[in-house]
Amino acid sequence: MRVLVTGGTGTIGSAVVRELLAHDHTVLALARSDRSAQLLEAAGAAVLRGGIADLDVLRDGAGQTDGVISLAFGHDYSAPGALALAIAEEAAAVATLGQALIGTGRPIVTVSGTPWVPGRLSTESDPLPTEGPVAGRARTVTALLALASQGVRSSSVRMPRTVHDEGTGGFAGLLTDAARRTGVAGYPGEGTQRWPAVHARDAAVLFRLALEQAPAGTAWHAVADEGDAVRDIAEVVGRRLGLPVQPVPADTFGPFGAIFAMDQPSSSAHTREVLGWQPTHPGLLEDLELLQP
Ligand SMILES: NC(=O)c1ccc[n+]([C@@H]2O[C@H](COP(=O)([O-])OP(=O)(O)OC[C@H]3O[C@@H](n4cnc5c(N)ncnc54)[C@H](OP(=O)(O)O)[C@@H]3O)[C@@H](O)[C@H]2O)c1
Repeated sequence: MRVLVTGGTGTIGSAVVRELLAHDHTVLALARSDRSAQLLEAAGAAVLRGGIADLDVLRDGAGQTDGVISLAFGHDYSAPGALALAIAEEAAAVATLGQALIGTGRPIVTVSGTPWVPGRLSTESDPLPTEGPVAGRARTVTALLALASQGVRSSSVRMPRTVHDEGTGGFAGLLTDAARRTGVAGYPGEGTQRWPAVHARDAAVLFRLALEQAPAGTAWHAVADEGDAVRDIAEVVGRRLGLPVQPVPADTFGPFGAIFAMDQPSSSAHTREVLGWQPTHPGLLEDLELLQP
């Protein structure tokens, strides 16, 4: 398949591009800068120049390809309102890509987070949360999945809080960044709350499987570790960086503080059984051992 990929230079996206190219697909990758274009070309992708706010470019890219994987999301939250802007840009981009595929039967795979359910592991059949700072992303995905009734083979891969590679990435990566910035490997609350995790290269395999096989309107869980206690994550970060490990206020982590404080283990039993996905790369705590001071 010739596949349009947005976000192909990201932690997950670069693994997705490699995974597709290693499995007889070709990739047309969105690139908003010369640097991103060079990285994508070096990986073996063809480049479509533009950003996710360039809706005509996205429409054109979807028209040139047999399927879409949508991963781009703004990742600089330093300015006030940046997270809300990123959510709005993603919503418009995903809606545009989905509309372009109406009536074609072609696949589009997008990304969201795993839901959380008090007292148990969340599963693929649990709905996405409709409240909280990233609820807008859930609405974007839900609208895309609803296009299943209009001839779009839409699916979503739900990511754990932490998607890691070489010890970096995801919410554990934000903990590491905060530790480097503040000199303390901090965690919110008691640290007993659990976050699921997956290695980026295992997640990439699931994006390919969903592109190739997922029925229209379905959601899948890229969960390798069902739940690592946040204190255990902070302990590896602190030991690797030579920093003290201690509780810190949730607002240390900006707009993510409330999510960081929650217990949110998750299961991928259904995904493994139906799509035959089997993670093979190191778990989070083992991967964090690669962090360098
Ligand atoms: N639990 C969760 O909810 C969860 C966990 C992990 C990941 N995710 C989602 O999974 C996706 C991929 O994650 P990741 O870790 O690979 O992301 P990442 O490393 O932060 O990379 C973001 C990607 O999006 C691109 N991008 C950002 N803004 C863009 C814009 N305006 N126009 C075009 N491209 C833009 C970046 O391109 P440049 O190289 O040009 O900057 C980069 O390729 C994201 O949507 C992320 O939010 C969700």
